[in-house]
Amino acid sequence: MAVKKCVTAVIFLAATTAGAAWAEEPIKPITPPKEINQAKAELGKKLFFDPRLSKSGFISCNSCHNLSIGGSDNLKTSIGHNWQKGPINAPTVLNSSLSFVQFWDGRADSLKAQAGGPIANPGEMALTHALAEGILTSIPGYVTEFKQVFGDNKIDIDRVTDAIAEFEKTLVTPNSRFDKWLLGDVKAVTEQELAGYKLFKDFGCISCHYGESVGGGTFHKMGMVEEYKAKSPAEGRKAVTGKDEDRFMFKVPNLRNVELTYPYFHDGEAETLTEAVDVMGRLQLGKKLSDTENAQIVAFLKSLTGDQPAFTLPMLPPSSDKTPQPKPFEE
Ligand code: HEC
Ligand code: HEC
Repeated sequence: MAVKKCVTAVIFLAATTAGAAWAEEPIKPITPPKEINQAKAELGKKLFFDPRLSKSGFISCNSCHNLSIGGSDNLKTSIGHNWQKGPINAPTVLNSSLSFVQFWDGRADSLKAQAGGPIANPGEMALTHALAEGILTSIPGYVTEFKQVFGDNKIDIDRVTDAIAEFEKTLVTPNSRFDKWLLGDVKAVTEQELAGYKLFKDFGCISCHYGESVGGGTFHKMGMVEEYKAKSPAEGRKAVTGKDEDRFMFKVPNLRNVELTYPYFHDGEAETLTEAVDVMGRLQLGKKLSDTENAQIVAFLKSLTGDQPAFTLPMLPPSSDKTPQPKPFEE
């Protein structure tokens, strides 16, 4: 009851202070996840950090989605098994539960469907699902924990991805300064940041980047007004639908914590936020932003950085004598 009263008070406050009624704003504050199965999420956290889910025994989900640096790897494209050059920039896993589909081209419709991909991708973790199941089944600590979470000790890829997805649901970042402003704290952002938000709306950035995660809700073409000249062969949604008109259609990235997730765009070609904002203005809106406008929008984007996931590093159960050995230097 006390909690409910408090929420009502915050909304009342927001509605009565200068322009900060979030109900009327196209960007919504992030709400912490509801209905998390804690035991399952704890197991998922271990799996997320476990390099034994890769052929080399060296690469975990956290290698490319490093939770200490914003859930990405800060590389143009990722490094996979045997130092392979990845084809595309790694998006952050932060707030990915808020996106309508997963991957730049939307080829996975849920986090659970997504999580099986990298384990078996020869260019990423390079295992097979059968081998991943075999490795985990050989580790007594996992057998016990799967039994606690799922009721029996079967370990299969379905349960592995289910647990990882449950953990990923906890990786949301509420309490950014911008969200505090949305909730009525008028002093939470600076004048420059507020001016940037106004431009973000007035110029039309908001038509693609909106909602709780400031993106992640639609596919849009990269290069609406001016053509995007890419060196990378990635074609976006066309790879899924086969249709020519879907060439360069990408999931609009979510802009939460974007100050941490450089470099930018699907090919990682924009090194700085200033550059990414400049390209967006020209290619999506046909507008060359002035240095002041650009700096204001960048300042606004930086106010979207929220509370980063904070937890004790998971301790992983040790391998047994039966655990298949990693093969770090085999193709
Ligand atoms: C070798 C680096 C690498 C590893 C390891 C890796 N990923 Fe990724 N991840 C990527 C890249 C690159 C993409 C983008 C691929 C694409 O869109 O085609 C991606 C995309 C994703 C996405 C979609 C995010 C979005 O906004 O669309 C999620 C979620 C994700 N990975 C979770 C995981 C999980 C869970 C694991 C471990 C099971 C994992 N990744 C392992 C590099 C990696
Ligand atoms: C028509 C839809 C649309 C509009 C309008 C738009 N964007 Fe984007 N934005 C996208 C898409 C699609 C991408 C991904 C493009 C790619 O990676 O090739 C993107 C990517 C970005 C990125 C890089 C994010 C990342 O993680 O790589 C930033 C920053 C960004 N937009 C900011 C803006 C700003 C600022 C404006 C207004 C000046 C704007 N966008 C207008 C669709 C749009």
